[in-house]
Amino acid sequence: MAPLASVQGQVTALFTKALKDAFPSIQQDALVTKGNPKYGDYQCNNAMMIFKEHGAGLGFDSPLKVAEAIRDSLPPSKLLGDISVAPQGFVTVRVSPEWLSSKVGECLLKGDISYLDLPRKRVVVDYSSPNIAKEMHVGHLRSTIIGESVRRVLEFCGHEVHGLNHVGDWGTQFGMLIEYMKEAYPNFQDQLPEVHDLQEFYKASKKRFDEDADFKTRAQLAVVDLQAGGEFARSAWQKICEVSRLSFNRIYQRLNISIEERGESFYNSMIPPLVEELKVRKICQESEGAMCIFTPNISTIPLMAVKSDGGFGYDSTDLAAIYRRLFVMRADWVIYVTDLGQEQHFHMIFDAAKQAGWHRPPLTRCDHMGFGVVQGEDKKKFKTRSGETVKLGDLLDEAVQRAALEISKRVEEQSKDGGEAFLSNPEEQMDAAQKIGIAAVRYFDMKQNRTSNYVFNWDRMLDAKGNSAVFLFYAYARIRSIQRKAGIDVHSIPSNCLQVKHPAERDLALKLLQFPDVIEAILGDLHLHHLTDYLWELCNTLTGFYMKCKVLGEEAQSCRLLLCEATRKVLLKSFQLLGFTPLDKI
Ligand code: ARG
Repeated sequence: MAPLASVQGQVTALFTKALKDAFPSIQQDALVTKGNPKYGDYQCNNAMMIFKEHGAGLGFDSPLKVAEAIRDSLPPSKLLGDISVAPQGFVTVRVSPEWLSSKVGECLLKGDISYLDLPRKRVVVDYSSPNIAKEMHVGHLRSTIIGESVRRVLEFCGHEVHGLNHVGDWGTQFGMLIEYMKEAYPNFQDQLPEVHDLQEFYKASKKRFDEDADFKTRAQLAVVDLQAGGEFARSAWQKICEVSRLSFNRIYQRLNISIEERGESFYNSMIPPLVEELKVRKICQESEGAMCIFTPNISTIPLMAVKSDGGFGYDSTDLAAIYRRLFVMRADWVIYVTDLGQEQHFHMIFDAAKQAGWHRPPLTRCDHMGFGVVQGEDKKKFKTRSGETVKLGDLLDEAVQRAALEISKRVEEQSKDGGEAFLSNPEEQMDAAQKIGIAAVRYFDMKQNRTSNYVFNWDRMLDAKGNSAVFLFYAYARIRSIQRKAGIDVHSIPSNCLQVKHPAERDLALKLLQFPDVIEAILGDLHLHHLTDYLWELCNTLTGFYMKCKVLGEEAQSCRLLLCEATRKVLLKSFQLLGFTPLDKI
């Protein structure tokens, strides 16, 4: 299959060539945007500016004349259909129906859809990253969902992506915890506690640490022991990690997350030599007993490569991690997915990496993909009705239950209408509820502007008529249903039957070919809502197409079946990027 390329990019290239030919003395790239659908698909906006700055010198008396000169210099291309110029100076083009038809055939119907973002890059995406001995909270859920999708988008673009789970598995808290467990739960190594208990132990150990000086000393010794690789401390630590890991993996399994664990402990041994090097290179300086890296453009507070008590903290680990990723792994691009509260921390880390010469923009790129807070209806941090933090497993369970309820309502309606009840047996219904419920939570999260806070709302999440995963699942299943009713294998229809004629067919074909523009937008600003917005528009375009173009039993049946199949494939690819498995029947 031919890889997809941005339509807007191709139109821009044509106009850039036209500008060069029409005005060789002016160095200018074409400025192309989507056009007013009344006049065309894309418009070039350069004429006004050229007229203002150079009109007199070049002998043009109106922007219209400049626009005409641009139009006349457009190189011949199969892509271009009708071209018009407006008195204000816009040059508007329609993409030709022949080009649309052949591109849908070439790029969407044969084999797997592909898109290449060359040159191929090595990318590290640091996401999910929960903390051992604590339960994952909604923030970690956001990081997991968003991180997984961005990683899938990058893989789709042909990049080599390493998804790393920077688990909080190291630090002084483990000394307290080990010491506390020894006392309160002596056989914990044989009988592993539940992660919930672990969280309680964690709280209790913190209390002891703050109140009991003797306990504090012992906890500190336990940390030293752990750092030195003492047998008991090591094995206790491993057991604690194991308990947490099991609970994280349950969530990952349900969300189909494939991530490699590379927790904070992994970087521990790299820190001392790294600090030595940074000291020699004068990037790190001593200040009030700590080893600091100053990043004056970002913050007045320095990064702590070594804390004043000689210990290593969150900053130390992230310095070692970025060194490892950029300098050892030779990543071209590193992306961190956490809540916005950590934005400054990461910008300081990026700045330090620049000072150290590991981060060399534009050769290397570092992004913090920050996200907002999930809120309850009261606009406060999302909590359960009884005011506790929401357990992610419970949240996913509730999503599935609610989806199951919707499905049984639908099945009831279908059988009342005397029609076909698609999901007839309870197992099928349960499977559908799992897929829809979890997709609904994910979609609702990703359709938000990533950097805003949002209010968690079950009804909107599962609204079959609104912009929700449920709506998309229906759109997908409807295509499947048409294909079943047609009773022919779409692959047996020759692709030259695809000749878009009706304006609604054209709209759909163009929308489908705009898929790569969405991917490009995501690569630019790492906002996944470009894709959810696109899916919503695509499904609405599809509805418009159905309203105006009957598919089955028409002369254009073959062409329309192919268009439906191309739509199905774009939906499927998008679903895969968002982490959903669609259903053939609902
Ligand atoms: N464990 C951290 C937290 O829960 C997130 C870690 C993000 N990644 C990193 N390299 N610091 O907030």
